[in-house]
Amino acid sequence: MVVTVPQHVAIVMDGNGRWAQQHGKKRHAGHKEGVKSVRRVVERAAQAKVKILTMFAFSSENWRRPREEVGLLMDLFMLALKQEIKRLQRNNVRLRIIGDRSRFSQDLQASMVKAELDTAGNSGLILQVAANYGGRWDMTQAVRSLAQQVRDGSVEPDAITEEQISAELSFSDLPDPDLFIRTGGEQRLSNFLLWQSAYAELYFTDVLWPDFHEAEFDAALAAFATRQRRFGLVGEQVTSSKETAG
Ligand code: IPE
Ligand code: IPE
Ligand code: MG
Repeated sequence: MVVTVPQHVAIVMDGNGRWAQQHGKKRHAGHKEGVKSVRRVVERAAQAKVKILTMFAFSSENWRRPREEVGLLMDLFMLALKQEIKRLQRNNVRLRIIGDRSRFSQDLQASMVKAELDTAGNSGLILQVAANYGGRWDMTQAVRSLAQQVRDGSVEPDAITEEQISAELSFSDLPDPDLFIRTGGEQRLSNFLLWQSAYAELYFTDVLWPDFHEAEFDAALAAFATRQRRFGLVGEQVTSSKETAG
C-alpha cells in the first residue's frame, strides 16, 4: 500500500505553559523544552519526506501576554536562531520566517535575515517559522496590496480572483497545508493560516507541545494517511480519479 505523506504540514505548538505547570516549573521552562520538540519534529518531518513544515511560534495576539513572558520568548527566539543554524545546515533545511517582522527588535530582525540567508541554499525541508503571524494580518496585508494595485489602475476590482488573493498572501509560492496539527488539547485555529488551511485535514491531540516527539508526529501522519480528501467531490469521484491516475 502506498502511504500518502502530506507535502505541507502546519503545526500550532501549544501547551508549553501547562507542561511547565505540570512539572512544577515556570512557564519559560516549558518554552525552552518546546524548542527541543521543534528540533525533533523538524528532523522527523525531513526523514518522512514532508516538503514544508510551518510552525506557529508566536501569534499576533501573543504580545498581550505578561511583558516578562514576551521578553523571555524574544530572548529564546534570538538564541534559537543563532544556535540552530548549524543543525539546520546539517539537515539541509531551509528556514523562512513568516509574519509581520516590523515589530521585532532590530537585532532579532537581523538574526532572522541572517538565518534565512545562511540556509537559503539548502534543498531539503522548507521550515517556515510563523512569528508575529496572524491569519487576519496576512489577509489584511494582501487586501492592502490589492487595493494599491486597484488605485494604480493595474487591477480591476471586478476581476480580482482567488488566485490573485492567494498570490498576495504569505508563502504564495508554496502549496497550502495538507495537514494542520494542534497540540495541547484546544480545538481551535487561533488565527493561524486561515485562508491557506481551507482544505487542510485537521488533527488535534491532547499531548502538550514539549511532549510531542517523533512517535506523536508519526501518529499524525498515520491519521492523515487514512483520510479521504474530497475537495467538494463525492467519494466515488475521488477513488475513480485515483485509479485512472494510478
Ligand atoms: C504555546 O504554548 C507557545 C506560545 C504561544 C508561544 P503556550 O504558552 O500557549 O502554553 P499554554 O497554552 O499556556 O499551556
Ligand atoms: C496559539 O496558541 C499560538 C501559538 C502556538 C504560537 P495560543 O496559546 O496563543 O492560543 P489561544 O490563546 O489558546 O487561542
Ligand atoms: Mg496556549
